[in-house]
Amino acid sequence: MSQLTIKVNGQTVHGNRREPLLVQLEKAGLQPEFQCRNGMCGACRCKLKSGAVNQGDTMAFVAPNEVLACCSIPKTNIAVEFDYLLAESQQTNKKTVNS
Ligand code: FES
Repeated sequence: MSQLTIKVNGQTVHGNRREPLLVQLEKAGLQPEFQCRNGMCGACRCKLKSGAVNQGDTMAFVAPNEVLACCSIPKTNIAVEFDYLLAESQQTNKKTVNS
């Protein structure tokens, strides 16, 4: 199955193995920071607490335990953490599960 779970700042959302993490979080109604959306700026940087992602070639600096949400596609269930509170959009079809 391509479905998996993404735990982000303690909240669990449904995810998949096809789309970048940034896109999936946005579809879940969250609003992580971003600028370039192609691995150049580092604005979407987050800590990968558990699980694994496929991250394409990027130019932005990331620490060994960090990934770029715009360029990372989850391979497994993952837990990530942003250093700030994620704003929620007004999206009505939010797919979240409280943890
Ligand atoms: S938004 Fe620029 S590196 Fe992800």
